[in-house]
Amino acid sequence: MNTALQPAIHVRGIEKSFKDLHVLRGVDFDVASGSILALLGSNGAGKTTLVRILSTLLKADAGTATVHGFDVAEKPGDVRESISLTGQFAAVDEVLTGRENLVLVAKLRHLTQPGAIADDLLARFSLTEAGGRRAGTYSGGMRRRLDIAMSLIGDPPIIFLDEPTTGLDPQSRIEVWQTVRALADGGTTVLLTTQYLDEAEQLADRIAILHQGTIIQNGTLAELKQLLPAAQVEYVEKQPTLEEVFLALVGAPTGTESS
Ligand SMILES: Nc1ncnc2c1ncn2[C@@H]1O[C@H](COP(=O)(O)OP(=O)(O)OP(=O)(O)O)[C@@H](O)[C@H]1O
Ligand SMILES: [Mg+2]
Repeated sequence: MNTALQPAIHVRGIEKSFKDLHVLRGVDFDVASGSILALLGSNGAGKTTLVRILSTLLKADAGTATVHGFDVAEKPGDVRESISLTGQFAAVDEVLTGRENLVLVAKLRHLTQPGAIADDLLARFSLTEAGGRRAGTYSGGMRRRLDIAMSLIGDPPIIFLDEPTTGLDPQSRIEVWQTVRALADGGTTVLLTTQYLDEAEQLADRIAILHQGTIIQNGTLAELKQLLPAAQVEYVEKQPTLEEVFLALVGAPTGTESS
């Protein structure tokens, strides 16, 4: 079992090939309990492959990985009970309402009081008002939040989020970030993959860069920034970023319903 001293996720020498394509060539990293690791990498770097190995959906060719103290190859059942996986594409049933989606998952997990669990999660994800509406009518951000809410049923100590904000507008992205941050503050360990550098900057305690099959850098944002020399200070007015302008015009999310 997991102890406070052990990392929540421990990965050593993981390799994976698809025929001649040697995608993972010896991946090593740890994720401390209750922290957020952002795994960065270009398209095809192997992020989803790694997440699938750690969530027991795929077997590695070599190396070891433990999740919540359980070896992914030896104890896949125990690993699955310790994690949730939100995939790159939302797994929401569009015909059901948001609340029905949550109740369904709670029932599948044999939890008592599925209705109360659903109502609690709807409130936590600012979806109470939308809860009675078919999920097919939700915006991308609402659907993503519902998807993450569904993955939290049963309170898994470790969650994997594969590109949680791809395709979302800036407001929805910030809402998802707030959600993920709140989870980590509550002690959940989060491994997320992303292609957005600002997402990693905003959210991650540590950032690991997967490139050509290995982790080429792993550190805090401050540590990674020290890899480059500081820019010469020039006395020019700082222009706002497009994101700052966009959010100033449309209003930053307040944690209330968005549609
Ligand atoms: N089941 C499979 N069979 C063959 N090749 C695969 C399989 N799964 C992944 N690959 C290949 O492995 C490489 C890594 O894929 P993966 O999906 O892990 O990348 P990724 O980092 O998640 O990319 P993206 O940012 O586009 O989601 C890609 O070249 C992909 O085509
Ligand atoms: Mg992927």
